[in-house]
Amino acid sequence: MKKIILIVFVVVSFSAIAQNVNDPKMNTFISNLMKKMTVDEKIGQLNLLTPGGGIVTGAVVSSDVEKKIKEGNVGGLFGVIGVDKIKVAQDFAVNQSRLKIPLIFGSDIIHGYKTIFPIPLALSCSWDMKIIEQSARIAAVEATADGLCWNFSPMVDIARDARWGRIAEGAGEDPYLGSQVAVAMVKGYQGNDLTKDNTMMACVKHFALYGAAEAGRDYNTTDMSRVKMYNEYLPPYKAAIDAGVGSVMSSFNEIDGIPATGNKWLLSDLLRKQWGFKGFVVSDYTSVNEMTAHGMGDLQTVSALALRAGLDMDMVGEGFLTTTKKSLQEKKVTVQEIDQACRRILEAKYKLGLFDNPYRYIDINKPAKEILTAQTRKEAREIAAHSFVLLKNYNQMLPLKKSGTIALIGPLANDQSNMLGTWAVSGDSKLSVPVMEGIKNVAGANVNVLYAKGANISDDSLLAKKVNVFGTRIDIDKRTPDEMLNEALALANKSDVVVAVVGEASEMSGEAASRTDITIPESQKKLIKALAKTGKPLVLVLMSGRPLAIPEENQLAASILQVWHAGTEAGNAIADVLFGNYNPSGKLSVSFPVNVGQVPIYYSQKNTGRPSSDDSPKFQSNYLDAPNAPLFPFGYGLSYTSFSYGDISLNNTSMKMNENITASVTVTNTGKYDGEEVVQLYIRDLAGSITRPVKELKGFQKIKLKAGESKKVNFKIGVNDLKFYNSDLKFVAESGEFKLFIGGNSRDVKEKDFKLQ
Ligand code: BGC
Repeated sequence: MKKIILIVFVVVSFSAIAQNVNDPKMNTFISNLMKKMTVDEKIGQLNLLTPGGGIVTGAVVSSDVEKKIKEGNVGGLFGVIGVDKIKVAQDFAVNQSRLKIPLIFGSDIIHGYKTIFPIPLALSCSWDMKIIEQSARIAAVEATADGLCWNFSPMVDIARDARWGRIAEGAGEDPYLGSQVAVAMVKGYQGNDLTKDNTMMACVKHFALYGAAEAGRDYNTTDMSRVKMYNEYLPPYKAAIDAGVGSVMSSFNEIDGIPATGNKWLLSDLLRKQWGFKGFVVSDYTSVNEMTAHGMGDLQTVSALALRAGLDMDMVGEGFLTTTKKSLQEKKVTVQEIDQACRRILEAKYKLGLFDNPYRYIDINKPAKEILTAQTRKEAREIAAHSFVLLKNYNQMLPLKKSGTIALIGPLANDQSNMLGTWAVSGDSKLSVPVMEGIKNVAGANVNVLYAKGANISDDSLLAKKVNVFGTRIDIDKRTPDEMLNEALALANKSDVVVAVVGEASEMSGEAASRTDITIPESQKKLIKALAKTGKPLVLVLMSGRPLAIPEENQLAASILQVWHAGTEAGNAIADVLFGNYNPSGKLSVSFPVNVGQVPIYYSQKNTGRPSSDDSPKFQSNYLDAPNAPLFPFGYGLSYTSFSYGDISLNNTSMKMNENITASVTVTNTGKYDGEEVVQLYIRDLAGSITRPVKELKGFQKIKLKAGESKKVNFKIGVNDLKFYNSDLKFVAESGEFKLFIGGNSRDVKEKDFKLQ
């Protein structure tokens, strides 16, 4: 009994530290400050602006920012990059506004600040929480050195539809893995003390269900049952809240017919009352105003709706700033509602230590010392290598020998502008390492590299125009496609092996970058086919921000290495893996469909009443023209070595609600290389009060095994691993029979049965 009480105490006090709740000193300080504030000044705190001249991430840029800051009409800024500029803005607030309340400075540091790491989807394929946390830590160190203290990350939206471009920004399809990643990132950004000058407040986004946009079209409607929401889509947000994330961003989409930004059930009942969130909620970019287009009323109406729903800060749209006082006079909002939102913003500033020292994050000398150092680049290179997934390796074509002639072909083979990936707003692509340079760095003098572009990323100039909004990503060559192709084929014919670096431009994924066709663009498909025809062994290095449908390329290529968009050190990391300096260990955090018609696709599906095997006859739940199974399942990824799994042993075949079961399996490295394997545990609840998925990830361990070495891996399964939200939305475990699976991916598993009594 004593022990239980102690544990409860420790948990409560941890999240209390993280969020600084019940801090009497803070409460008194803020109450005293708020006594001095006019209603206008309180409303001013709820206003988040982006001054332009920096990074613009939406359609509108704020105007008259300096004046508004001095008048006390601004709570924070984002999109200001550079400590010198931040200092100027902070000076306006603390020297020239009446109450000298410091500004909070935010930014989108999604996968690194200046040292850019792989896109988040790639990072999640490492299944390595230490390196994910470390990438967030480095991002926070660099960003805070440049004056920032608030990060619009992690993005934890579950995404199962590869058409949606923002699948690139999250951790894939699975709530369990997604939750682990969410926690790792919050810890990496916030550390254990927000007042330190190298930690920053995280902002979990986009709350909620943004990844379930209908038809994979960005910003589109979502609609789902509560049971699905609670079991499959909400866990990563909740995990971030439980880890003490300081802020939440509401999403653009509607939920149950009410946009998230004005959804009281979401922002107050669920987030605050059920989950106990104590931080503040910021809207997404103009998402308050956008409720008008959603059909919720004029700006005053939607701004009042948002405030009453529990939104605290209005990003860019100035609906709060321009209408709240009127709404107060007309009794459409209360002074308590304004006070509450204002208090939460001030609390965030207090937690960051800005009232003690508004210049806490501002040190003009720091950037040169802390940003993009040899050490951060080294770590980025290692982390990137961990995020690649080897999809195919016929005849052990990889790793490449460090001798002979390589034809390095493809529009992404000697490119810098696409290495960083989407949402690298503060990164500089000119500092990134192209694949050709990386190969030259790693291969050594005995390798002869012949390079040709071979094809454009796409020949479609309209697509190029849409993709090139932030600079040229798709560069349509002056030469004709045939000229480029012939040059490439001539080199291929002179080589021992062809390495084709192909795929998507970085801005073909990310925000407002949905695609209905998720294949490699036609220009490159042609190139790949022609290269395969030369009969030379073909290695595909596949860059993309989403799972692509590559059934044909999978037939044509000997090896396929999925490298996503790998960041500043892309080229070096890719070369490290191609030449075997690092043995790939990534596993897919998202299923790769055979074709776009299969999406949304995910391993943890429910059985229908007519579950099908792919060769089923009529009247089964399947397609006439494609299998049900993905091309590459969730959890899948090869290594240069091979692993074998022994049978699972259970220490017990039945457990009571207060007991555990331990499942053990011996994994052996049966190949020639040392390597790492992600051992995955899945569970199926065979019969429940509601239907249950055919498999759910419930644990994983990434282990290192030397060639020939074996290790016993144990998983302890407790009742919490068997719980789910039932139709009353109660988190329960139900007695009955379960299946437990262990394997190196979600498809190829060993299994055992057990009972919960
Ligand atoms: C995106 C957010 C981002 C915000 C600020 C929006 O368009 O949806 O993810 O944090 O802009 O840049």
